[in-house]
Amino acid sequence: MRATRRQVLAGLAALSAARPALGADWPELRAAPAEVQLAPEGYPATSVWAFGGQVPGPVLRVPAGGRLRQRVVNGLDVPTSVHWHGIRLENAMDGVAGLTQEAIAPGATFDYDFSAPDAGTYWYHSHNRSFEQVARGLLGPLIVEEAQPPEVDLDEILMLDDWRLNEEAEIAGEFGALFDAAHGGRIGNWVTVNGQAEWTRPLPQGARVRLRLVNAANARIFSLRLSGFSAFVVALDGQPLPEPFAANEITLAPAQRADLIADVTADEGDEAALITRERNGDFIIGGFPIEAGRAPGPRPIAALPPNPAPRLAELPDVPVRELLMEGGAMGGMRGAMMGGAMMEPRALAERGMVWAFNGMAGMPDAPFAEVPRGTPVRIALVNDTSWPHGMHLHGQHFHEVEDGRPGAYRDTTLIGPQERREIAFIADNPGDWLLHCHMLAHAASGMMTWIRVT
Ligand code: C2O
Ligand code: CU
Repeated sequence: MRATRRQVLAGLAALSAARPALGADWPELRAAPAEVQLAPEGYPATSVWAFGGQVPGPVLRVPAGGRLRQRVVNGLDVPTSVHWHGIRLENAMDGVAGLTQEAIAPGATFDYDFSAPDAGTYWYHSHNRSFEQVARGLLGPLIVEEAQPPEVDLDEILMLDDWRLNEEAEIAGEFGALFDAAHGGRIGNWVTVNGQAEWTRPLPQGARVRLRLVNAANARIFSLRLSGFSAFVVALDGQPLPEPFAANEITLAPAQRADLIADVTADEGDEAALITRERNGDFIIGGFPIEAGRAPGPRPIAALPPNPAPRLAELPDVPVRELLMEGGAMGGMRGAMMGGAMMEPRALAERGMVWAFNGMAGMPDAPFAEVPRGTPVRIALVNDTSWPHGMHLHGQHFHEVEDGRPGAYRDTTLIGPQERREIAFIADNPGDWLLHCHMLAHAASGMMTWIRVT
């Protein structure tokens, strides 16, 4: 199917940076209500909750191995917190309200201060009632910079998101609706790249670009395609691939990232594009009008320099711990434990629960696994549901096991309906770490557990 252009849309509002620090030398990141133009011209601006007055929030950058110090100011009238997705950081800085910190009260601040050991593309987002707060816009990019970045003509972050807007371009309510929770999650009806429905960047012919794709949507799985480029995937979820592979198509579950190095192959006057495949057709969500320029064309691609994260050379000989994922619409779950009691599906649903991990709905008191630091861990994620899930582990990356070997090294893995996916990693970061579905309505309605590394 041919991609069609959408209507021309109004540009993104304020691109102001985070507010300067008041008094102390802490840079401030303020969460507060804001108005941004998400919908086409002619529609009103949308009231969102945003970091630094913009969606996505300001780009935060830190050199690999450096420290990020960030004072988060809560200018909302509800409590919030900030999670630094994919960073192998100190547990107390992980930003999980109710597990690693108390939520930041309205008007209060929290000082996040952590080192970022691994270069790559990461992001930050609210981790308090995230099914609502992320949907309202509390998210932004976090780039950990390589000491020696690859040579490119342009390095672009493309934050993909979707919004559920009504006809007045207001964010539709019903956060936590059970129908969404039991199906694919809160899927939006309006897709944006960097807060714009039609993001555009001119490129010279033959240029080489690094595209940092981030899926910041609550629940939408993006099936993406690049046209007018010859592209290689060089990193997944921030972590470099030892061997980049050629791919002009990539699927990103919520929270997943991919770094691509892409050489323009389109001619001057044409437009290269980032295209999303939807049920009702293919849509251009990022456009690259090609201008005159020098034209080296496709060139060889080198791997990004490796990070210090502890990878496995082979699968460790340890027992596989099973995490049985059950529930949802057309799932046939018979019941689950909640608050120490066995409940029928109807009773669970009355409490907002429609999914279970190993027969438990919602955050269990005891961890799914407790291991001393340095232990190799194998987990089989068994998706006994009719829905795909994007499972995320906090605090460390894991290998997806491919053909009995440690494969892609990521922090979020997409598991199709009735699929089983084994992951393996060395638990080397002490603390209490969430393991949950990143379809945020799923997490809020049962798909949540945690591991303890001592
Ligand atoms: Cu991206 Cu538990 O988070
Ligand atoms: Cu899920």
